[in-house]
Amino acid sequence: MPTSRSSGVVANGVFADRRQSILKQLRGAPLLVRSAPEVLRNGDVHYSYRQDSNFKYLTGFDEPESILLAIPKGKGPNGKGRLRTILFVRPRNPAMEVWDGERAGVRGAKKMYGADDAHPIEEFWDVFEEESKDWDMLGYGLGCDPAFDRALVDHFSRRWTGRPRRNQGLPTMVDPRPAIHEQRWIKSPMEIEWLQRASDISVSGHRVAMAIAQPGMYEYEVQAELEAVFRRDGSPRNGYDSIVASGANACTLHYIKNDQKIRRGDLLLIDAGAEYEQYSADITRTFPVARKFSDAQRAVYNVVLRCQKKCIKACKPGTPVRRLLDLSRRELTKGLVELGVLRGRNIKKLVDDEKYKPWYMHGLGHWLGMDVHDVGPYETMAGKSVLMQPGMVTTVEPGLYFQKNDKRVPKELRGIGVRIEDDVLITRGGCRVLSEAAPKEVRDVEKLVTGN
Ligand code: GLY
Ligand code: MN
Ligand code: MN
Repeated sequence: MPTSRSSGVVANGVFADRRQSILKQLRGAPLLVRSAPEVLRNGDVHYSYRQDSNFKYLTGFDEPESILLAIPKGKGPNGKGRLRTILFVRPRNPAMEVWDGERAGVRGAKKMYGADDAHPIEEFWDVFEEESKDWDMLGYGLGCDPAFDRALVDHFSRRWTGRPRRNQGLPTMVDPRPAIHEQRWIKSPMEIEWLQRASDISVSGHRVAMAIAQPGMYEYEVQAELEAVFRRDGSPRNGYDSIVASGANACTLHYIKNDQKIRRGDLLLIDAGAEYEQYSADITRTFPVARKFSDAQRAVYNVVLRCQKKCIKACKPGTPVRRLLDLSRRELTKGLVELGVLRGRNIKKLVDDEKYKPWYMHGLGHWLGMDVHDVGPYETMAGKSVLMQPGMVTTVEPGLYFQKNDKRVPKELRGIGVRIEDDVLITRGGCRVLSEAAPKEVRDVEKLVTGN
């Protein structure tokens, strides 16, 4: 059974149930999912490894060079009566484990991860040949790894050319990702607990960062304090690279250099989220460093805050996600008029003409889960906006960004970038803000950053 410091023990039944439910949707096709590849950084050094979210979701298994085969009942030699799970994994290897750490190995894959059968990864093609003899369908997502796609097609082509008398064509490929992603889209109570934990840890980090940031510190020093809290509170890794952007750096949306000195009077925008059990938070707070907001900063901040709170209020079952984006555009456009950036009384026309675009160029939010930009559709195949449902988790993150040399905006606004981002769970009665403990009201922010 997979164990970790954070959750204790995750029952293998959870993963088996997920596989079962996906197989049902594949209507008889066996399922093949691969682990994330290790990526070389240089020489024999790899980038830090993170398991593919779909693979993790279906197996709980964290090691690279692994393959899951889930075969529905009645397929293959011993497949009668139930779903059969086969894991292909790196075999135990004491010499290698001295370098890279312990492996579950073939026995561990069965004992700890509930596989019915397990084999060394090197035996994959031989076992697959045997198992897939009579398959006329396969659930596999083409397009991620052209070399493996090619190997699969070659494998089945040999079956065709090698036994032409049987007139057995290549199996139909069914892409399992839409089914997996729809399932991951709606969070179970356990997943919600993990997201709440990821959010709680992240909030603690944000609070510390807000309290300790001082002019003269480098952005990466604040980052270190924030991430130290993440680690100490039980998060092994961030959901994404932290953005710690002082002053006009906040106008670079994915600013991750974090290498500038914080100047007196600057705002600091921090967009950072901890992972817990491979579920990520995604929280942004923008605050004046160790002092109160200037008038111009407060004016921009209040426009963004008002918009964000209105959008969160609209998060409930039945709301089309597209409506939230439209709402944020309307609210921020209204704010841009109040700030003297845009002129005009007809807000609808300003929105229709996309006049907000130079200063609000991103969407309102995205699904959140195992991946920070999580899976799940935003529109139906017919092009209609999807409706929010209980169990979905979305970010709500409006922002305004005035570049420091933007002559179109009043001088005092130049160099101000503000984003406020919360993680919102849709519930039956409306929504719950998982990250609500991170201060965002002006008075609460000022209290925390000034210490009184
Ligand atoms: N942290 C990335 C985002 O907010 O989308
Ligand atoms: Mn986000
Ligand atoms: Mn973010």
